[in-house]
Amino acid sequence: MDRIRIVGGNPLNGTIPISGAKNAALPLMIASLLTDRTVTLENLPRLADVSLLVRILSHHGVDYSIDGRRQGEEQDAGQTVHMTAREIVDTVAPYELVSRMRASFWVVAPLLARCGEARVSLPGGCAIGTRPVDLLLMAMERLGASIEIDAGYVVAKAPKGLRGAEINFPKVTVGGTHVALMAAALAQGTTVLHNAAREPEVLDLTDLLVKMGAKIRGAGQSTIEIDGVARLGGAKHRVLPDRIEAGTYAMAAAMTGGDVFLQGARAEHLQAALDILIQTGTQIDASDEGLRIRRDGGAILPVDVATAPFPGFPTDLQAQFMALMTRANGVSRITETIFENRFMHVQELARFGARIKLDGDSAIVEGRRVLKGAPVMATDLRASVSLVIAALAAEGESMVQRVYHLDRGFEALERKLGRCGADIERLSSGG
Ligand code: EPZ
Repeated sequence: MDRIRIVGGNPLNGTIPISGAKNAALPLMIASLLTDRTVTLENLPRLADVSLLVRILSHHGVDYSIDGRRQGEEQDAGQTVHMTAREIVDTVAPYELVSRMRASFWVVAPLLARCGEARVSLPGGCAIGTRPVDLLLMAMERLGASIEIDAGYVVAKAPKGLRGAEINFPKVTVGGTHVALMAAALAQGTTVLHNAAREPEVLDLTDLLVKMGAKIRGAGQSTIEIDGVARLGGAKHRVLPDRIEAGTYAMAAAMTGGDVFLQGARAEHLQAALDILIQTGTQIDASDEGLRIRRDGGAILPVDVATAPFPGFPTDLQAQFMALMTRANGVSRITETIFENRFMHVQELARFGARIKLDGDSAIVEGRRVLKGAPVMATDLRASVSLVIAALAAEGESMVQRVYHLDRGFEALERKLGRCGADIERLSSGG
């Protein structure tokens, strides 16, 4: 199993190109199941989750082709992938595939909408809480599907097609909104989603669906109306930049000090996190090209944070912010309101000498100026990268184990950080 070795203490200086967003790429790829025409996605990141979803979608009948590198194109430029689901050959999504990536459960919506039935294994995914799918199932039932659970599989049926309906989400759910949008796009009549998620990735999916011929009003708002159409066509779409990757490198630069340009990052996708970073004493300049993040040798100021659905502070940056706060010159409280068990990084951060106490849904972080390198274990995707950030700022050597979590969501992590002066290398199994 690969490990990442980091010798901390170097400030980060340079440019980091931000990749296409994993959490937009996944639903965009799944939307290709809605049509027999070709959906072309540009700027698709090279990530383990993307490759796994390619396998899952191929299983249902999606043909793929990937463009080669073009003249003058950077080695790290995102990929252009053409996907065509001319015919759905299998409406069953088996446990072996779905258990490895939670988002693949979302195939239930296009399979049901297009074929009138789907049998999809209940999902697995990161160990960050119980993560039920009741709201996704509620949305499909509202649209007229019958839902049964059989031997660990969700069996959804709508032999006469889905019908538009009012769907009230009692809680904001990104996956629930993706599923409802995809299913409603091919339902008969009008669907209204109340309390829909407003994450930029939801807006990206809406943009693609509209290009495919869907009739959607209120995209990016919490009430969305969809007039179903009989069929959707092909489209070409560019995956939006990854705001969580950008926020992660912003936290890294804030922690190590230095001057980093996050090429392609968009401030409007990250405003809550940028506002907090400014309060910690980090300088931020936003432009159309990206974000410049600077911190000189001054102290990191402690700031309290609570995660919230967009436009609030993202849960996917909570662990990284906690790493930053371990070096603040005072006490901060970090409250997790989205997932009940997303504090797996606390015990690993403690190995660097961080002082963190858990208090219900909050972590109380007593900042101290010096962290010491240590062997640590990655637990989930964002927790893992918080350990990388802490290691970059810690004195001496750290070894991050189980880095396959990082490969799920961070493209070329060592190369991007290494180019900015970090002492970081991947040791493969034998190394
Ligand atoms: C998406 O997960 C992201 N995943 C997560 O990123 C992200 O943390 C999360 O949204 C919140 O922003 C992808 O986009 C692939 P939710 P999702 O449904 O859609 C509860 C990462 O590291 N809930 O918005 O699964 C749920 O338990 C990942 O990239 C129900 O109760 O999240 C949670 O408390 C991790 N019933 C809250 O809603 C349901 O049926 C929000 O979850 C569905 C969700």
